[in-house]
Amino acid sequence: MPTALITGATAGIGAAFARRLAADGHRLVLVARDEPRLDDLAGEMHERHGAPAEGKHEVLPADLATAEGRAVVEQRLRDGAAPVDMLVNNAGIGSVGTFWDTDAEALNAQFELGTTAVFRLTRAALEGMVERDRGAVLTVASFAGLLAGRNGASYTAAKTYAVSLSAEIAAELRGTGVQAMAVCPGWTHTELHQRSGSDCPEDSSAWWLEADEVVDTALRDLARGRTRSVPGRRYRLLLAAVDAMPHAFTRR
Ligand SMILES: NC(=O)c1ccc[n+]([C@@H]2O[C@H](COP(=O)([O-])OP(=O)(O)OC[C@H]3O[C@@H](n4cnc5c(N)ncnc54)[C@H](OP(=O)(O)O)[C@@H]3O)[C@@H](O)[C@H]2O)c1
Repeated sequence: MPTALITGATAGIGAAFARRLAADGHRLVLVARDEPRLDDLAGEMHERHGAPAEGKHEVLPADLATAEGRAVVEQRLRDGAAPVDMLVNNAGIGSVGTFWDTDAEALNAQFELGTTAVFRLTRAALEGMVERDRGAVLTVASFAGLLAGRNGASYTAAKTYAVSLSAEIAAELRGTGVQAMAVCPGWTHTELHQRSGSDCPEDSSAWWLEADEVVDTALRDLARGRTRSVPGRRYRLLLAAVDAMPHAFTRR
């Protein structure tokens, strides 16, 4: 039975990955800060699908915005006795406001989650995956990482880094049994916008995605060997249209 480690598993897209991967027969390692919520989710998975043959789903409380928290998860990813077959780099936070008037500590946590945590965890996971010649690293970046919008300068820059890192690693992995894929959703109904108070469209807007749709598209794209997953037809069409326009125009 394959094992998947998911960061930011207590809510939104991470919780949707956890539910879907458990249903598909994965043993889970669930990472986030809120331990009682992680326990609840693991309990729900045991109730619905029973305990995996290899042992119960694991919960690993960690603050990935800190070096200490990341070290705990890196150590778990390097544990050759209980190998992780799929890493889902998903934990993230939003923000509201311009770069200069947003709290510097909040921006720093957003940056650490979107860049350093993705870099450190991916690096730790790939050592064993490449040696075993199997595995996958999915990084939940954002549509903002493909097409800059008004999502916050630092958020957009961090997501651009995540998309670029994932694409370069995917190129380096070509010819191995290991995959890397960036997941680039647009506005998705989760807790993120409520938590950060970020700007988003009316609830009735057709631009909204559901977390389950993001996960379904990602896992389908992974099975097809793709290195980038953009859920939602509207977003794919927008990207195709923008790609066809002169860069100077779309940048504005
Ligand atoms: N929702 C959208 O519109 C949207 C669009 C594009 C991309 N994304 C990306 O999708 C990913 C998931 O976001 P979401 O929308 O599902 O948000 P969400 O519902 O707010 O969930 C965020 C998850 O990240 C965890 N988290 C936050 N800070 C953390 C920290 N310091 N250490 C460890 N875990 C932490 C949270 O758990 P705890 O609070 O328990 O730690 C929670 O499980 C993010 O990377 C986000 O940037 C979201």
